[in-house]
Amino acid sequence: MDTALSGQVALVTGSASGIGRATALMLAAAGAQIALVDRDAVGLAAVASVIGPNTRTFEADLGNGGSLPGLVSSVLAAFGRIDILVNCAGITGISQTERQSVIDFSDAQLDAVLGINLRAPLILTREVGKHMVVRGGGGRIVNVSSSSAFRATTSPPIYAASKAGINALTRSAAAELGPYGVNVNSVAPGPTRTSMLASADRHLEELVKDGPLANLTHTVSEPDDVAAVIRFLCLPDSRQMTGQVLHTSAGLVV
Ligand SMILES: NC(=O)c1ccc[n+]([C@@H]2O[C@H](COP(=O)([O-])OP(=O)(O)OC[C@H]3O[C@@H](n4cnc5c(N)ncnc54)[C@H](O)[C@@H]3O)[C@@H](O)[C@H]2O)c1
Repeated sequence: MDTALSGQVALVTGSASGIGRATALMLAAAGAQIALVDRDAVGLAAVASVIGPNTRTFEADLGNGGSLPGLVSSVLAAFGRIDILVNCAGITGISQTERQSVIDFSDAQLDAVLGINLRAPLILTREVGKHMVVRGGGGRIVNVSSSSAFRATTSPPIYAASKAGINALTRSAAAELGPYGVNVNSVAPGPTRTSMLASADRHLEELVKDGPLANLTHTVSEPDDVAAVIRFLCLPDSRQMTGQVLHTSAGLVV
């Protein structure tokens, strides 16, 4: 049995599905207790039933920034501490068949994408970071960025801007929280087989072989490929890594 993270509590957003779900399962397998956060109550219950007793579900809409301090208080009331924060929940704001254009988007689309992808991680970093500083003993924060933040084409502009913001947040938070023993890093996945790309599933294999989303190994990432790197960033093995963006896109961004 893996006990590398036993005694630790991890709050994982977006953990009802995809990369967040895979991350929650891996951190739980390493011995951590998991606060599963998502707006999808059914998905949360399904993940909790796989993990077993060492978990609690917290149904929350991360687009409602005002509710997030209360969410963190609820997690602290349930577990007593938070050692790991994984900001994974995210949306593109469009379906795979739509385009997002810098000269054609609605304010509602802008608010939704920035609210969930950037504002929520900022507020959760503030609330959980404050707890880690006061508690002492350090912690880990891992943000989920995207290869979209590093590309000019085939990169929805609002989504890309939100993920570039995540990279800046990662550096700033790493600098400020480093003296308190809190490491802050992000991972930048390329096309990964989750519900976010469900409507593109039929073409994923083709997408990574040829064209602007082609990667160097011509392979599609699975949620576990990304989750394994997030787990590494939560382990003592990565103690000298902070303020970094780790690319899990098979060389789509080099
Ligand atoms: N799949 C990819 O190809 C890919 C590539 C690069 C980056 N990412 C990033 O990976 C992260 C995880 O996405 P995924 O691919 O696993 O997609 P996913 O759709 O499978 O999972 C996203 C999760 O976030 C939750 N969520 C969305 N809005 C929410 C809200 N307002 N409140 C609470 N929960 C909310 C969803 O319910 C879902 O469980 C995202 O930040 C995404 O931008 C994904």
